[in-house]
Amino acid sequence: MVCSAEDRYQRMKYKRCGRSGLALPLVSLGLWHNFGEGTPYAQCKDMILGAFDLGVTHFDLANNYGPPPGSAEMTFGRVMKDGLKRYRDEIIISTKAGYRMWPGPYGEWGGKKYLIASLDQSLSRMGLDYVDIFYHHRPDPDTPLEETMDALAMAVRQGKAMYVGISNYNAEQAAAACDILKSMGVNMLICQPRYNMFDRRPEEGLYGVLREHGVGSAPYSPLAQGLLTNRYLEGIPVDSRAAGSSVFLKADQITSAQVGKARRLNEIAQERGQTLAQMALAWLHRDTVTTTVIIGASKLSQIQDCAGIVNHCDFAADELIRIDAILSDGTP
Ligand SMILES: NC(=O)c1ccc[n+]([C@@H]2O[C@H](COP(=O)([O-])OP(=O)(O)OC[C@H]3O[C@@H](n4cnc5c(N)ncnc54)[C@H](OP(=O)(O)O)[C@@H]3O)[C@@H](O)[C@H]2O)c1
Repeated sequence: MVCSAEDRYQRMKYKRCGRSGLALPLVSLGLWHNFGEGTPYAQCKDMILGAFDLGVTHFDLANNYGPPPGSAEMTFGRVMKDGLKRYRDEIIISTKAGYRMWPGPYGEWGGKKYLIASLDQSLSRMGLDYVDIFYHHRPDPDTPLEETMDALAMAVRQGKAMYVGISNYNAEQAAAACDILKSMGVNMLICQPRYNMFDRRPEEGLYGVLREHGVGSAPYSPLAQGLLTNRYLEGIPVDSRAAGSSVFLKADQITSAQVGKARRLNEIAQERGQTLAQMALAWLHRDTVTTTVIIGASKLSQIQDCAGIVNHCDFAADELIRIDAILSDGTP
């Protein structure tokens, strides 16, 4: 039987998601990497249960996470079946659809047939009656936004999703999506952009739109896939994502300019008495629009380290100025 730590809610802090009734942990766990068939089940289970022990109540999935696609949802479903399901009412489970899942014209993007069929498949893989958050994973240039939003609203009306969100939408697309969804009687809960110290595009307009519409933000890849941690400060470790088979982070993408900046940021983190990962996550929380940050991990110790941001999330004005100077510095 799974018995989670009794003090788990003292170990984490929670923030309200936009203008909604839902609070999310400052740190959420994403299952994009390291939860597919290539990772031993016991290790996946250890990370998921270990995260929950730390008060990480939110798990972020998508139909295509693996590899192979679908296998991360299968892993999560197995952990639920193996005991975590007794805590179902204490857990927020997100999934998404938008990327290619099956062949033919109905296997990707934002049409209603694809989105509803994909959600049904996700529920079946995870052994769930509903997900807490269903996201449209990426904007579709060809499907009318009204149809995509209608599919999200339908998922809510059918009781298959409690809340809905969007991911990878720009400011203009997000504003239009929020308005359309609202006209259908459903509020947009959350938006999931790529946002970290090295990729600040959401600051250019998206965050203003989310603030105005009362929508929360859940930045993904908040550690730039590990670049904003101590992982690559002294080279590329053999057990790191960049040294592995991920097509999303290759060794040649670890530039000396980024490592140089990470080293300088690490000095500030040390002065603050925290790890670089903790400082990079806390920095995203400096804006109230950020509700949670969706980290990835290959080891439970990384999740434990990240959850430590609850101890020090505030910044002095001069710290933010020094960080900005490093991030905007064109020289390594
Ligand atoms: N909506 C979307 O389109 C989208 C896209 C991408 C991701 N996401 C979501 O965001 C989640 C996170 O993405 P991500 O994995 O790129 O996030 P990330 O948090 O930026 O990077 C995770 C990697 O950083 C390293 N790491 C994490 N904590 C560490 C620590 N405390 N100390 C040292 N290293 C640490 C680990 O690298 P090693 O593996 O090398 O140990 C880990 O795998 C995904 O799982 C997914 O749920 C969504």
